[in-house]
Amino acid sequence: MDYKIAGIPGDGIGVDVVAEARKVLDRAAELHGFGLQWTEFDWSCERYTQTGRMMPEDGIERLSTFDGIFLGAVGFPGVPDYVSLWGLLIPVRRAFGQYVNLRPVRLLPGTDTVLKNRTAEEVEMVIVRENSEGEYSTIGGRHNSGTPAEFAVQESVFTRVGVDRIIRYAFDLARTRAGRVCSATKSNGIIHTMPFWDEIFAEIAAEYPDVHSEQCHVDALAARMVQQPDRLDVVVGSNLFGDILSDLAAALTGGLGMAPSGNINPPGEYPSMFEAVHGSAPDIAGQGIANPVAQILAGAMMLDHLGQAGAARAVNSAVERVLAAGEVATPDLGGKSTTAELGTAITKALVHA
Ligand code: NAI
Ligand code: MG
Repeated sequence: MDYKIAGIPGDGIGVDVVAEARKVLDRAAELHGFGLQWTEFDWSCERYTQTGRMMPEDGIERLSTFDGIFLGAVGFPGVPDYVSLWGLLIPVRRAFGQYVNLRPVRLLPGTDTVLKNRTAEEVEMVIVRENSEGEYSTIGGRHNSGTPAEFAVQESVFTRVGVDRIIRYAFDLARTRAGRVCSATKSNGIIHTMPFWDEIFAEIAAEYPDVHSEQCHVDALAARMVQQPDRLDVVVGSNLFGDILSDLAAALTGGLGMAPSGNINPPGEYPSMFEAVHGSAPDIAGQGIANPVAQILAGAMMLDHLGQAGAARAVNSAVERVLAAGEVATPDLGGKSTTAELGTAITKALVHA
């Protein structure tokens, strides 16, 4: 069995971490008797500066024939971030109905958490971020530019279909885990979209009496994530809330270098896209010291999504064993190793599970 994978390393450290993750995934595939057929695309900010486009006009069409998309990160100084985001990442998420952004948060062995006295069992949650609408919208505008009366308006879009399907996904996921869903809201301050979100959450919660449900204002939820992470299992939030909470959660579990994510098209009618939560990290780009673990764990999520659960488990367990041994670690983990050294160590630690 062969899977066709589109690799988009992108910019900055995206290029380094995708190279290491590919080593790990190829070896895992070999050990588990399947193949990954990679096609690599140079779609990036560098390409944008040469051609004026992040990806070619038929980019989406070309990606549609793959089984999975493996993205590094896009964004580089000199190109505005909204260009890189809206020129590649967001069009892919939307064209392929990747309405779930799944961000597992786990405290892995051998990594430090800023949380005192917390164990891996207590920091084990997953953030289900809405990935297709909400606050990330192009509706709005800027007016009266250059005058004292200048203003900007940005509209949020929450549809019944969009809110319903993401909340339902969270409840279904909770049934496979600890059985608890917490909804991030802000219906005290945001008086149209958030009460709408809460209403749909309550309707769906009633359909899942076996799942414990609660809602929490996003500000209080941020505090709870730090003070009582053990009370959280599945956290569901809008595009913006989910984005912010997942960086916070990543910081609690060894930093951005450890946090993977999947942009999932649940019906499987289009390819899903897997990437690290972090960006292109221009501050450390080109130094060969980026932590490849987040990208490698994103690769494990991709293998799992493709139906290769055994290979996915093998990758996760190789990462855990290398981190627990503590001999090979990048600077963000307190070590002195390079990106390639950590990638190689994880590749070597792979065994047939
Ligand atoms: P960032 O995640 O790239 O970096 C934030 C901080 O975390 C930096 O100090 C960086 O060195 C550190 N860091 C991130 N990943 C690391 C890793 N694997 N190992 C060690 N340290 C790591 O976020 P920032 O600085 O806000 O954005 C940089 C660029 O990336 C921007 O152009 C932004 O738009 C883009 N970006 C792209 C994303 C994507 O492609 N999905 C997501 C987030 C940001
Ligand atoms: Mg983010």
